[in-house]
Amino acid sequence: MSKSTSKNKESSRTSARRKHDHVDIVLNKDVAFHSKTTGFESVDFVHNALPELNFSDVDPAVVFLNKKIIAPLMVSCMTGGFAQGATINRLLASVCEEMGIPMGVGSQRIMLDNPLKDKSFKVVRDMAPSIPVLGNIGATEVAKLHQDEYRIDDFYRLVDVIGADALVVHCNPLQELLQPEGNTNFSGVLDGIALLVEKLDCPVIVKEVGAGISDDVARRVLSVGVTYIDVAGAGGTSWSGIEMYRRGDGDSSHPFWDWGIPTRESLEMVAALRPEFPALRVIASGGIYDGVTAAKAIASGADIVGAARVFLETGIRGGRRSLKKQIRRWIEDIKGVMFLTGARSVIDLRQVQLKKRR
Ligand SMILES: Cc1cc2nc3c(=O)[nH]c(=O)nc-3n(C[C@H](O)[C@H](O)[C@H](O)COP(=O)(O)O)c2cc1C
Repeated sequence: MSKSTSKNKESSRTSARRKHDHVDIVLNKDVAFHSKTTGFESVDFVHNALPELNFSDVDPAVVFLNKKIIAPLMVSCMTGGFAQGATINRLLASVCEEMGIPMGVGSQRIMLDNPLKDKSFKVVRDMAPSIPVLGNIGATEVAKLHQDEYRIDDFYRLVDVIGADALVVHCNPLQELLQPEGNTNFSGVLDGIALLVEKLDCPVIVKEVGAGISDDVARRVLSVGVTYIDVAGAGGTSWSGIEMYRRGDGDSSHPFWDWGIPTRESLEMVAALRPEFPALRVIASGGIYDGVTAAKAIASGADIVGAARVFLETGIRGGRRSLKKQIRRWIEDIKGVMFLTGARSVIDLRQVQLKKRR
């Protein structure tokens, strides 16, 4: 066996183990932020007692990545690359297809080392032929593209295998910093992103994983041609917490447990760049756990909203039926907010004012 083949096998085993640990820890430990919140709890809609519309005319459908989706909602990137990951992806994809909302796959890094792992990602497109499906890769792998360690063809493959409508690049320096086997070489990421934007046929989405995107970071990625940003802010799942459990200390008093920009603050900072970058599309995620909060995120400037941990927990604990029920409930609640604020469409909801809670 050549040195590089055995190195790839080792790296593929580590990636699979890591993805397994993530699901295991998320399901069995307290991985929420402790004192930091998303910020959505401090604002409220102003009730409109004269909405002047018929509830049956309220329509939450939007177009996302050139496809019509039933509501501005998606299941955020989570998993793949190991046996249970394939089962989870199959479940999430079949529900998303039935409900008509997009879904992201977890990091496809393992596919770069081991094509045998393609299956656990490909299953998503097999189960969900019509919805937008998002591929996913880490920023440090994208940096290697610029350092000539990977070729652009490797990234074409990530997109092709799942028929991705977009490729998400997750920028997760906090997670890598605390991850036992983390890669903290973030030099060259922006150049790598620029190359992807230039070469891929689909859009590139830049995303955090729960520590938020600042206006400065957003401006830098928008300047190289990115048009979609998922703020994935703080207040929901603490990825430093998850990595602390993995390295065996689970120290909830660690100063980085609650590190990051709260989701609402990050969303407002990024959405404020629209006049400068009119093509910008913003995804709000990070601690959004119900339909009313999702509606608040839209009214704060998001085009669509994503959630990860809540949907994973419901899918695994309650199965298909419970997950469908939960997503249906979110959509009903988004429609309820639209009715009670006089918003017929999601474009109208974006104009609705939120008021600071007293
Ligand atoms: C089990 C699990 C695995 C995840 N894996 C990835 C991943 O591979 N790539 C990624 O971009 N985000 C990943 N995430 C992060 C989520 O997409 C999301 O940004 C983050 O969890 C915050 O959202 P939440 O508060 O709704 O969980 C993962 C989340 C969970 C719960």
